[in-house]
Amino acid sequence: MIVLGIETSCDETAVALVRDGREILVNLVYSQTDLHARYGGVVPEAASRDHLRKLPALAAEALEKAKLSWNDVDLVGVTYGPGLIGPLLVGVSYAAGVALACDRPMVGVNHLAAHLFALKLMEPPVEPPFLGLIASGGHTLLVAVPRWGEYQVVGGTRDDAAGEALDKFGRLVGLPYPAGPKIDALAQEGDPTKIPFPRPMLESGLDMSFAGLKTAALYWLREHRDAPLPDLCASFLEAVVEVLVEKALRAARRFQLKRIVVAGGVAANRRLREFFPKRAAERGMEVFFPPAELCTDNAATVAACAHHRYTVLGRSDPLSLVPDANLPLHGWQ
Ligand code: KG4
Ligand code: ZN
Repeated sequence: MIVLGIETSCDETAVALVRDGREILVNLVYSQTDLHARYGGVVPEAASRDHLRKLPALAAEALEKAKLSWNDVDLVGVTYGPGLIGPLLVGVSYAAGVALACDRPMVGVNHLAAHLFALKLMEPPVEPPFLGLIASGGHTLLVAVPRWGEYQVVGGTRDDAAGEALDKFGRLVGLPYPAGPKIDALAQEGDPTKIPFPRPMLESGLDMSFAGLKTAALYWLREHRDAPLPDLCASFLEAVVEVLVEKALRAARRFQLKRIVVAGGVAANRRLREFFPKRAAERGMEVFFPPAELCTDNAATVAACAHHRYTVLGRSDPLSLVPDANLPLHGWQ
């Protein structure tokens, strides 16, 4: 079964073709970051227009690269939330158009669930039960996953997402949006112990808060204008990483899960990928990270998630499917 995956929930236009929910034939991602860079964040209306401009061409390119035609597509999977409503509408409308024209079923996918399906695309696949840490620009949550398709959110941020905190900190120190990958690179040259940034809410519960950390950085920067950028980045990143790791380990222990999987854009971070497995091993747990290109927004994970929903859960959606900007990750999805 060939699934066409479509992802437009934020500022990446992405199209993928995946065979039988596992084999990636093509996974194209067109990032709008250059478009939004000068504003320091994503401008929703500009994002919608750019998705509309780019999506049809990207789908045609995907088919060409995979040497397939529209007739070969058996199922259309599309992100219908959470995300920016305009961009989601572009993706869902386009997917419905393809499904109608090709007379194929369409499946709407939760963007957060799709992030977790990156683990199913690994070789060998990482299967539930596991504790998922989803850390992206828009979301940071801990989710217990007893089996594919079933999700119980057990904790998460009360304010900013981890990626959002990195991006906002980056703005404070003059890095262009999105700052996460640049902080990742700069931190490699810096000393993570140099600046004692706080670890908000580290000692209790499964919830997190990153807004205070950003404020602490703002005050620290006012007092220390000449701090070296690599040390600043390494120290700030260390605070974010330590909170994510501690909370995920605590959640895994509380729900008696021995495996932890990390997904979402922040999962591409090198410091997190290095630090987390060591900490987990000390507590007798295992951590899995998808390859970086499956951590950030892409449509192969959407196709894999859609394939599971259709073939295992027997789900498909009417072409009138309405996107939901605040779609929660809860129960069977
Ligand atoms: O999952 P994603 O691609 O889009 C959303 O659903 O939000 O995540 C984007 C976020 C941004 O905040 C970006 O700065 C962050 O992930 N990010 C990183 C890295 N790559 C992307 N953060 C730290 N290190 C990275 N290598
Ligand atoms: Zn995402």
